[in-house]
Amino acid sequence: MKTLFIYYSYTGNGDLVAERFREKGAEIRKVTPKKPLPKSFLLGMLTGGFLAAIKHKDPLFEWDSSLEGYDLVIVGSPVWNGRISSPINSVLEALKGKELSFVLYAGGGAAPKAVERLGKEFPSSKIVVLKEPKKYPEEMEKLQVFFD
Ligand SMILES: Cc1cc2nc3c(=O)[nH]c(=O)nc-3n(C[C@H](O)[C@H](O)[C@H](O)COP(=O)(O)O)c2cc1C
Repeated sequence: MKTLFIYYSYTGNGDLVAERFREKGAEIRKVTPKKPLPKSFLLGMLTGGFLAAIKHKDPLFEWDSSLEGYDLVIVGSPVWNGRISSPINSVLEALKGKELSFVLYAGGGAAPKAVERLGKEFPSSKIVVLKEPKKYPEEMEKLQVFFD
């Protein structure tokens, strides 16, 4: 089973998820927006929340969007303002129509709006939402659905 995890992380929770996938033998691709969020916490929250709300697609540094040869492709995104993060909007645009599964990481551990959108755009996808895995490492057990 060849698995690919494509993800974005702003504050490191996604990196922890990526590490778990790597341990399980998956290949990892991290995307990086050309324009990072402002360093100030408040400005970062406001900017990221706004960009997510308008479904902005952040321009990304070059990344490999080929999925050939993978049995399972999982996309990872932090939840911003209840939604998919703006860097991952660009990934979803590039991978439209592909069979994808998702891992979302959220401060509150739930993201109904984001899950609803993904369910519509990627109807057969498996979606797992983790609550702040850096703080609650036991949340990572939910990733087991991808390895069963
Ligand atoms: C701009 C911004 C907006 C956020 N909005 C939400 C939110 O609406 N709901 C939530 O549960 N967590 C929210 N969070 C918290 C992150 O989703 C959470 O910390 C996540 O684990 C971050 O992943 P990362 O460390 O890989 O970037 C937000 C964080 C940022 C930076």
